[in-house]
Amino acid sequence: MNEKPTVIEATGLHRHFSSQGVELKVLRGIDLHVEKGEMVAVLGLSGVGKSTLLNLLGLLDTPSAGKIFYHTEDRVIEASTLTENERAALRSRFIGFVFQFFHLLPDLDLLENVLLPAMVSRSSSDFRRERRQLEARARELIEHVGLTGREKQAPNTLSGGERQRVAIARGLMNDPALLLCDEPSGNLDSVTSEKIHRLFKTLSKTLGTTILTVTHDPYLAARADRRLTMVDGRFVKDQEN
Ligand SMILES: Nc1ncnc2c1ncn2[C@@H]1O[C@H](COP(=O)(O)OP(=O)(O)OP(=O)(O)O)[C@@H](O)[C@H]1O
Ligand SMILES: [Mg+2]
Repeated sequence: MNEKPTVIEATGLHRHFSSQGVELKVLRGIDLHVEKGEMVAVLGLSGVGKSTLLNLLGLLDTPSAGKIFYHTEDRVIEASTLTENERAALRSRFIGFVFQFFHLLPDLDLLENVLLPAMVSRSSSDFRRERRQLEARARELIEHVGLTGREKQAPNTLSGGERQRVAIARGLMNDPALLLCDEPSGNLDSVTSEKIHRLFKTLSKTLGTTILTVTHDPYLAARADRRLTMVDGRFVKDQEN
């Protein structure tokens, strides 16, 4: 069989929250296996735990139980074995994150927001030395998301869909092996959504970027390689397109 390399795997993931003496069991045994270059859509009703799962996979939160394995170029890394610094390093070199609520930094302009992951993953002297190439890369991504000419604008002067596109460009800045997107087309019209979809497709074909995207957008879901539907804290369907 011609199997592609694995990028991320999760086994038996649980995430429980307790607030005011009540325990909320959100994730109840998620198993996941995603290959290099795959585009996977995660579907499910509001509140089912999609963002919770993405936060775990993006190393922004830790599971109550279960394991996550990252297949990097040189080795397989199990998330719970990492120190806080190692988690941060893996996150910045391996993972790109497009948040549901964007989380753009209000004091930085559009270009600086896109450059942020490059800044975070380098020493300030390396960043200054490489600034020219990094800016060129950021401008290229800004062009891909259709925002050329807006580089100096502050996030609070952009529309919702424009902010979303900045968040997508920022998620791609470090050429992540794994791009995690939470509703990347939630604020986009169908034409812009189609452009983002084409950008994702091109990335997965040319660079082998693996894309896991939470979406309520039937258009994006229908075009993913595979759809996973979450019900009651587990995946119930694994549909190939
Ligand atoms: N830190 C937390 N403390 C307590 N409960 C939480 C916490 N984070 C998430 N939850 C709860 O977990 C459930 C799942 O939330 P999550 O944000 O993952 O849903 P979702 O599937 O992304 O929904 P949506 O489609 O609306 O974005 C919700 O009921 C939410 O209130
Ligand atoms: Mg969510």
